[in-house]
Amino acid sequence: MHTDLYETARALVAEGKGILAADESTSTIKKRFDSIGLESTEENRRAYRDLLFTTPGVEEYISGVILFDETIRQSALDGTPFPELLASKGVIPGIKVDLGAKPLPLAEGETITEGLDGLRERLEEYYKLGARFAKWRATYSITDDLPSEYCIWTNAHALARYAALCQEAGIVPIVEPEVLMDGTHTIERAYHVTCRVLFALYTELFDQRLDLPGTLLKPNMVLSGYEASSRAGIDEVAEWSLRAYTKHVPAAVPGIVFLSGGQSDEDATAHLNAMNARGPHPWQLSFSYGRALQAPALNAWGGKPENVEAGQRAYYHRAKMNSAAQTGTYAPELEREAVSV
Ligand code: 13P
Repeated sequence: MHTDLYETARALVAEGKGILAADESTSTIKKRFDSIGLESTEENRRAYRDLLFTTPGVEEYISGVILFDETIRQSALDGTPFPELLASKGVIPGIKVDLGAKPLPLAEGETITEGLDGLRERLEEYYKLGARFAKWRATYSITDDLPSEYCIWTNAHALARYAALCQEAGIVPIVEPEVLMDGTHTIERAYHVTCRVLFALYTELFDQRLDLPGTLLKPNMVLSGYEASSRAGIDEVAEWSLRAYTKHVPAAVPGIVFLSGGQSDEDATAHLNAMNARGPHPWQLSFSYGRALQAPALNAWGGKPENVEAGQRAYYHRAKMNSAAQTGTYAPELEREAVSV
């Protein structure tokens, strides 16, 4: 079983490839559709995912797609179930299995991610539906006093519990500890918090017997707070981020696949590129973006059937730009190629 986990983890971070996070929960996708004035019906959600998954040629840049529970059960217009459609293009289907971040009791302003009860049985079903990797996201806010050690360690424990159940089921766990970048904090503060979070996470993963070559890490990049008065530039972001991962992420982990976390599309690409340009590193550095891969596609589509191709072109372009960033060969001039295909 372990060899399969290793192979899947390595395939997800193959050279020039990364992951599309299309696992927005029903409430999150509603927010995205609200931004283009589209009602969030089951059919509209299906049509949007259909647009992304049938984009011609994008499999050159995309190794895997993270799906939501509803989406893994939906099909393309010709009746092919989405996981089957993706697998036929050599794209690995994945599944979000956490049930969301809920208030952490006795800890105002902090959250704990839920979803462990019944997870063994859910993983068994997802495997049958075609999922070969999974995702669980924990979140941590930065203030003058937060995050607390209580929040950091309870979430690390839950992430490791989830990850162990995934490996038992033959599914590669992506562990996603997201330090949120809202606030006025400095990049140094983001670095220290990210280090504490990663230290706790890998302590728990070791304690709970995880086999690290069969896992992937999905962290935040180390950034200044979005409301900070002076914000670090691309090179500083790359340097502080690499310092944190070099110190805390074991070389046995095959890959780090970043979330975009509200960065602009082009910032997310430029930051990844700057890190890879400083390679080689012990692990592959790639992307697992939601918003930074999808925003231009969603806007170009606007919910209109006549705009499906425009949406696909926009998604293809961002996937190609991030693929270049994965090999450290991105340059902002490449953005100009954008529209005509
Ligand atoms: P963003 O890239 O939009 O942060 O989403 C990635 C993700 O999967 C968050 O859990």
